[in-house]
Amino acid sequence: MSFKMISVVALVSLSTSPLSTAQDASVERGKYLANTVAACGNCHNPRDAKGQYIEDKLLAGGARIGLPKSTVYGANITPDAETGIGKWTDEQVIRAIREGVRPDNSLVGPPMPVEMYRHMSDDDVKAIVAYLRTVPPVKNEVPRGKYDFPTPTSYGPPVSNPVSAVNNDLVKYGEYLAGPVGHCMACHTGIEGEPTPEDLEKRPGTGGRPFGPGGSLKASNLTPHETGLKGWTDSEIALAIREGISRDGRQLKGPMAFSMYKNINQADMQALIAYLRALNPLPTGG
Ligand code: HEC
Ligand code: HEC
Repeated sequence: MSFKMISVVALVSLSTSPLSTAQDASVERGKYLANTVAACGNCHNPRDAKGQYIEDKLLAGGARIGLPKSTVYGANITPDAETGIGKWTDEQVIRAIREGVRPDNSLVGPPMPVEMYRHMSDDDVKAIVAYLRTVPPVKNEVPRGKYDFPTPTSYGPPVSNPVSAVNNDLVKYGEYLAGPVGHCMACHTGIEGEPTPEDLEKRPGTGGRPFGPGGSLKASNLTPHETGLKGWTDSEIALAIREGISRDGRQLKGPMAFSMYKNINQADMQALIAYLRALNPLPTGG
């Protein structure tokens, strides 16, 4: 009898611990991605008057995003039931991220990089959602974006064939981080603005996309061309991404999330750099 009880206890602990360990690992992965390469908070964190993140309201939304001809705020993606995503199922949150469709069937507007997130792996999008469930819920009603230009009417068919992150090939994994996870290529491609699928296919990373007031700031060319990163060492590229310091010592301006990119781990930084070095060397704008 007592032997039997011990074996039941052993069985229970055996069956629960690997499960919770897998769950913990997923939350950790989601936390890492959301706060480094993906930098969700760059758009979703509220900011104080100086533009700094408000630390006790992370991901609660409400910061105005500088997009021409529009009034857009990062949405509240904390688990608050009334004003956040607390009542959404995991599948509904995943659909909003990868397909841009909310539970009420409305479409999430730009600049939420849905076109890039469509290609995020199942494991990674689930990990990010698992992490979102763990952040403190914050009550903060955020209005939906108003756009004075045509916004997408669909981001494409439901994601049915999600790619897995190819992490045994450094260049491929870097491509995955710079695209589906980090949307670096959405900013660093398309000289006219938002890149077209053709831009992303033919001239990824060639820069020139206008940002800032009046579009005066141009995204840098990240290809190995002389107007790009030709001749840069790995540590020079890493310093620009992590600290926002260019090769000539200039402090970089604009929308990059340096305070989050600072914590990109060494392996992921190496993958990102390997991918940038493998890009077709083309002049700015392609
Ligand atoms: C470049 C800015 C930007 C980034 C980066 C970004 N988002 Fe968003 N996201 C937005 C904006 C803006 C909206 C609201 C758009 C609107 O009002 O139609 C939004 C909406 C959402 C929504 C729908 C919520 C709702 O109530 O409308 C979810 C879920 C979401 N984002 C999750 C994420 C996650 C997770 C990440 C990181 C992996 C992320 N976002 C990164 C800008 C961004
Ligand atoms: C929201 C848009 C945006 C995103 C996302 C973004 N960048 Fe940038 N990036 C810019 C802009 C704009 C500049 C130019 C800043 C300046 O000139 O002051 C820049 C500059 C850089 C530079 C400096 C190059 C130089 O000549 O000094 C590097 C390197 C870089 N980005 C890499 C990346 C990588 C890698 C990612 C993804 C992890 C990324 N960027 C994500 C907009 C973006």
